[in-house]
Amino acid sequence: MTDKTGTGRGVKGGNQSPPLMEKIVALCKRRGFIFQSSEIYGGINGFWDYGPVGAELKKNIRDCWWNDMVRGRDDVVGIETSIIMHPKVWEASGHVGGFTDPMVDCKSSKQRFRADEIYFSPVIVDSKIVGYVSILETERTTEDLQEKAEALKRKKAIQGKLEPVQPRDFTQATPDEVPLVPSPATGEPGSLTPARNFNMMFETHVGALREESEKTYLRPETAQGMFADFKAVLDTGRVKIPFGIAQIGKSFRNEITPRNFIFRSREFEQMEMEFFISDEDDWEKWHRYWIDWCRHWLHSIGLSASLLSEYNHPKEKLAFYSKGTTDIMFHYPFGVQELWGIAARGCYDLSQHAKFSGVPLEYFDEEKKRKYVPHVIEPAVGVDRIMLAVLCSAYDEETTTDEKGQTETRVVMRFAPRIAPIKIAVFPLLRNKPPLIEKAREVFKLLQPHFTTEWDDRGNIGKRYRYQDEQGTPWCATIDFETLGEKGPELQDTVTLRDRDTMKQERVKIADLVPLISQKLRG
Ligand code: GAP
Repeated sequence: MTDKTGTGRGVKGGNQSPPLMEKIVALCKRRGFIFQSSEIYGGINGFWDYGPVGAELKKNIRDCWWNDMVRGRDDVVGIETSIIMHPKVWEASGHVGGFTDPMVDCKSSKQRFRADEIYFSPVIVDSKIVGYVSILETERTTEDLQEKAEALKRKKAIQGKLEPVQPRDFTQATPDEVPLVPSPATGEPGSLTPARNFNMMFETHVGALREESEKTYLRPETAQGMFADFKAVLDTGRVKIPFGIAQIGKSFRNEITPRNFIFRSREFEQMEMEFFISDEDDWEKWHRYWIDWCRHWLHSIGLSASLLSEYNHPKEKLAFYSKGTTDIMFHYPFGVQELWGIAARGCYDLSQHAKFSGVPLEYFDEEKKRKYVPHVIEPAVGVDRIMLAVLCSAYDEETTTDEKGQTETRVVMRFAPRIAPIKIAVFPLLRNKPPLIEKAREVFKLLQPHFTTEWDDRGNIGKRYRYQDEQGTPWCATIDFETLGEKGPELQDTVTLRDRDTMKQERVKIADLVPLISQKLRG
């Protein structure tokens, strides 16, 4: 098994690309998981395309969530709302006024940064400021800044006692300090602009003529669709508090610094669920319930529990209406980062939409004969972020020895079978023997209606196994001369079934393949 820590996990973040991440990005391109969008035109930053196996993997993640979150429960319904909504939605939600990130430009390099990702400190020797150092946030920001301070003291050949650095992010720089802080791009002071707020919503116009049209936005989250449709769903009469409304769909954010592959993109997909509870309910109980549900679900799609942790947002950093937010964190190769946020949002969203639309968004409790605005617990996650976590968790390298005693490194994506893009690959032993091809086609046609099945007749069997290991195919079935009955009747109509993880091969009757694989998939 790979020592994942040794191949890049836990190394500092920032702009450094750890080896494990580079290997995963290369594999994604090589095997058709993920491509840079519009690559033939030089690409476009923050946008990604999903190739043949990537699209399958992503669809499986979505389907698993939808099955477990919506179809498998009797207290959650699923909807699909439009990407472009009435512009007032975004005023009510607070996005027009406050969905901003602090932005800084470097006038020399023309690079743009998020101000809260630049950390700086004065360099103080014998109680005197002798300069400033800066760095893009890393997993060990303080230590890295201290090293930079020591280097500056050495460079300036200043004698005396260097004091410990006092890191602050650039949003906290005073107007006097702004010109003194070095740009992370050039290392020189004087080129950074003061931080200014940048609204991350993509604007667009509805209607044929731009002048006459109304300005609106591509949605930055799917959640507001659930709030805006709350009354419509309630009026269908299918739901009773406590209940949830869920959806999966694209969201768009004009991120200042999209980075870390698909971790932070400008176009991404969210899976969100708004769970409405009574204003008298124990919100903490429901909050914990949904955190545990999300962790359990991540485990069910194969994410190792050892790579997950929880982060509770400090009370003083929460929005005024928020009762509590917990993030499920994943140990990505570039650091421990937010994967899934579970927020207790009180009755803020429904109250805001009632205020801005003039339509009361209340619930009538038949038993207690009482009207109230429901409170909400919101588990919100990005499909792309889960996909990256799945890719990182599944990546493995194994040293194997062949019959000739030669060792080689086997790269294998150990996806949980339920989300593996291809469930089974079918190989005719040789591509130039028509009876083998004919029989293999029969097997392929038998499996295809039940599982995502791939046909592969290129190269030797060993190479085909390596290829399938890299795309994480749990099983491969080879049709050989035994299958044709050429080595005796007892093996006729059997195939060799090879297991990705154990590499063990067993002889299985063709007629048993569908029930056997179905059983293995049920786990
Ligand atoms: N409705 C609440 C909401 O949208 P958020 O924390 O801004 O909350 C929820 O986003 C989840 O969406 C995040 O935990 C993350 O998984 C995903 N996400 C957010 N911004 C993203 C981006 N730029 N690229 C990829 N995924 C993103």
